[in-house]
Amino acid sequence: MKALYFEEFGGSDVLQYGELPKPVISEKEVLVKVDYIGLNFADIYRRRGEYHIENHVPFINGYEGAGSIVAIGEKVTKQKVGESVLFVDVPLANAEYVAVPSDQAISLPAGIDSKLAASIGLQGMTADFLAHDLGKNSPGEKVFITGISGGVGQILSQILAADGIEVYGAASSVEKQALALSHGAKQVYPSRETFWAKTIEGQFATAYDGVGSTIQQSLDLIKHRGKVVFFGMAGGNPIKIDPVALMSESKSILTGDLWDYLTSYEERKVRSERLFSYFAKGKIEISEPTVFSLHDGKKAHEFLETGKSIGKILLKP
Ligand SMILES: NC(=O)c1ccc[n+]([C@@H]2O[C@H](COP(=O)([O-])OP(=O)(O)OC[C@H]3O[C@@H](n4cnc5c(N)ncnc54)[C@H](OP(=O)(O)O)[C@@H]3O)[C@@H](O)[C@H]2O)c1
Repeated sequence: MKALYFEEFGGSDVLQYGELPKPVISEKEVLVKVDYIGLNFADIYRRRGEYHIENHVPFINGYEGAGSIVAIGEKVTKQKVGESVLFVDVPLANAEYVAVPSDQAISLPAGIDSKLAASIGLQGMTADFLAHDLGKNSPGEKVFITGISGGVGQILSQILAADGIEVYGAASSVEKQALALSHGAKQVYPSRETFWAKTIEGQFATAYDGVGSTIQQSLDLIKHRGKVVFFGMAGGNPIKIDPVALMSESKSILTGDLWDYLTSYEERKVRSERLFSYFAKGKIEISEPTVFSLHDGKKAHEFLETGKSIGKILLKP
């Protein structure tokens, strides 16, 4: 099969495209012929050797993709050959075929094709647990989202707006601000400036912060008894926070990692069905993904590293 792989860590130049052996599935795995692979910043960190990657010779990047099942192991009961599935946490995905543990294969309902699934998988499942397991906001509450036009931010803002919550946020360019407003945000502030923050301090029930460097601003934006849902460092590491200062204003910080919320087949099923239902009801629109052929994986990595992409970047074997 064709695959994108590398033998040493480094810049995009280490990526090679060529023929590697097709995976052999075990009795509890399904073999997926991949239609689209999701490219994420974590893949850049893995290529550079800065993040955990599956031990394999040569290294094959990628943990997220969607396609159809072409073979099943002897003990697989949950899936059938021909079914379309998504996976978000399975290694060696930068390839034509991927061996996916049956428990990690997420069935796609009618109306969610493999291109949409690969475009929303990881970020959508993240937005779902942030909103429904951590934020748990009630209709009418006001929330703030840093990086509102990013991959997670776009889906999170629309889930919350569809749930009747008033969404505010910050994004860098006028184009990104307009995108967030078109997704139902009430107001979007310029993320690389801070003059506006003082004017809206103490107003929000929750601040969702995946930017990290903005954590003090997020704490200032929430009310007493409010919470910051902290989930990433896209803009740099957060400062150290003093819990005594938090206590004096009854403010809390909640954190979470998707992998602690996708620990069983049942959890994947419940969460993915809830996420897909927003798309089925037409409640979420996402920017058109940019598709590169797997052969052009180097160009795709370079494009992601520019930080200019708005929608998801997909690789097509
Ligand atoms: N905890 C989890 O389980 C989990 C799962 C998935 C992702 N994440 C994390 O979630 C975050 C967002 O992921 P994503 O896939 O949505 O990434 P993304 O599409 O790259 O979005 C990140 C956003 O951060 C904003 N940003 C970057 N630098 C900034 C800065 N200096 N100041 C303010 N805003 C800045 C950018 O928006 P502007 O350019 O518009 O400002 C960008 O839209 C990342 O930190 C990622 O690691 C966490």
